Amino acid sequence: MTHPAVLTENLTRVYAARRSATTVTALDSVSLRIEHGEVHGLLGPNGAGKSTLMKLLSTVLLPTSGRAEVCGHDVVTATKAVRPLISVVFGGERGLYPRLSARQNLMYWAALYGVCGRVAATRVEELLDRFDLRDRASDRVETYSAGMRQRLHLARGLIGNPRVLLLDEPTNALDPAAALRLRQTITEIAAQGRTILIATHDMHEAEHICDRVSLIDHGRLIATESPHALVTRVQVPTLEDAYLSLVGPSS
Ligand SMILES: Nc1ncnc2c1ncn2[C@@H]1O[C@H](COP(=O)(O)OP(=O)(O)OP(=O)(O)O)[C@@H](O)[C@H]1O
Ligand SMILES: [Mg+2]
Repeated sequence: MTHPAVLTENLTRVYAARRSATTVTALDSVSLRIEHGEVHGLLGPNGAGKSTLMKLLSTVLLPTSGRAEVCGHDVVTATKAVRPLISVVFGGERGLYPRLSARQNLMYWAALYGVCGRVAATRVEELLDRFDLRDRASDRVETYSAGMRQRLHLARGLIGNPRVLLLDEPTNALDPAAALRLRQTITEIAAQGRTILIATHDMHEAEHICDRVSLIDHGRLIATESPHALVTRVQVPTLEDAYLSLVGPSS
């Protein structure tokens, strides 16, 4: 039997608050199986635990209990096997070198992933085209708009040809045309058998690109279904209505 792209079993993460004795259970016994080639949406209010789940899968955070695998490799005991298989796009300022150009940033990241020489140069130019960055590719990243930086983050996310791409609110800073192109790119990537886990607050986006969505509320998984199955079960017209009827207010 082949391993799924992502598997979690009772995955739990408790954060200890720094200045008090209280704790926050950010993820509470989440069990999830995501197949190869699936576009899987993570939906839930602010503080639901979506980013925590992504951090656990990307090996930057340790689970408190339970376990998780990426393509059959345990994220705690086999981090060396997991890291080349995944790519994370959190966005914001982190991970980009502002004094380097987009092209230089991408070449740097290619080298880190072991992609070198002509292969790297070709892939970098393809990504600059795909994310509409060619015109400004030689300019320093510190002169870019938020949306351009976000597009560069996405290009960086693809440079290592990951099996599993973790996207945390990737269309946040994008204009409508760029967001549409990103959705098309996500669909193309999934058609190549790659798996995409995308956290989003955009229900329209989730409804259109996700094969299945998981609803998380206060760290707990409350539903994992296709958008169509979910709206049918809840007997509402749209995914947004289903979300609003199943998920409580944000914490
Ligand atoms: N480093 C941390 N220390 C303590 N608590 C944390 C830490 N990181 C996250 N939390 C808490 O864990 C819970 C889940 O946060 P998380 O960032 O995973 O939510 P999210 O679903 O990604 O929310 P958003 O939609 O706002 O991005 C929240 O209550 C948050 O305050
Ligand atoms: Mg988040």
